[in-house]
Amino acid sequence: MEETKRSRKVLVEGSPEEANALACELIKSILCEATSLKSSCHIALAGGTTPHALYRQLAAACASGEVPWGNVEVFFGDERDVPHDDVESNYRMAQRTLLDHVPVLPSHIHPMPADSDDLTAAAAEYEGIIRRIVAGGGEEIPRFDLILLGMGGDGHVASLFPATEGAAEQDKLVTAYFVPVLGRNRMTFTFPLINAAQNVLLLITGEDKAEAVGALLGDNEDAKRHLPAAQLDPEGTFLMVLDAVAAKRARLKIP
Ligand code: 6PG
Repeated sequence: MEETKRSRKVLVEGSPEEANALACELIKSILCEATSLKSSCHIALAGGTTPHALYRQLAAACASGEVPWGNVEVFFGDERDVPHDDVESNYRMAQRTLLDHVPVLPSHIHPMPADSDDLTAAAAEYEGIIRRIVAGGGEEIPRFDLILLGMGGDGHVASLFPATEGAAEQDKLVTAYFVPVLGRNRMTFTFPLINAAQNVLLLITGEDKAEAVGALLGDNEDAKRHLPAAQLDPEGTFLMVLDAVAAKRARLKIP
């Protein structure tokens, strides 16, 4: 296993399109590097709306065939409590914008069963699949080559919402729980799994995220404390890609 070097980068681009283009290049580079070092590469996709354009751009950028998708195993960082063909499903969104357009093997795509009747058992089963495929069944926390994340205006990442049992979970690697602010169940990676990753790419665009980004990158510990995103501390590389409006309240030390 290659040595994991901690690094942090905040990268700001002018427009959402430029931020997506940069994220796209970073993703391709990480996937190509990982597949050059190992027989298979493990990634977890983000949900929500921000990745729509990114995934479409990534699918187009991969048309040249430089990313060996046949060696990539695709997981999901979180999922809503809906069937996989539901318009709200993160799996359906990723399938239509990316997975239907790249040569990933169907057997290498692992949708999250967040609409199961027994969510606790389903979360444990999904964790078992990750432990088997990503870590070869070992006891250590599986290390994804890349975990993609977005962030909500309240600072949630994946489905780890402020002041919830999900954000506080330190033992399970995948959990499912009722999210009060949504009034719905969610299934999600937990921080121990996210923070074990070789690379975490957090893509944030839009005015509605500016306050949370400002707090996240600021020095006010009180403002930061309530943001689940502040618990992100990957063992490897942590890349934050922002557009200018999302970054406008962040005091960034421009080199
Ligand atoms: C989800 C996502 C979630 C998302 C943020 C940002 O299931 O909604 O996984 O964590 O990344 O809520 O959402 P937007 O990209 O829609 O702003």
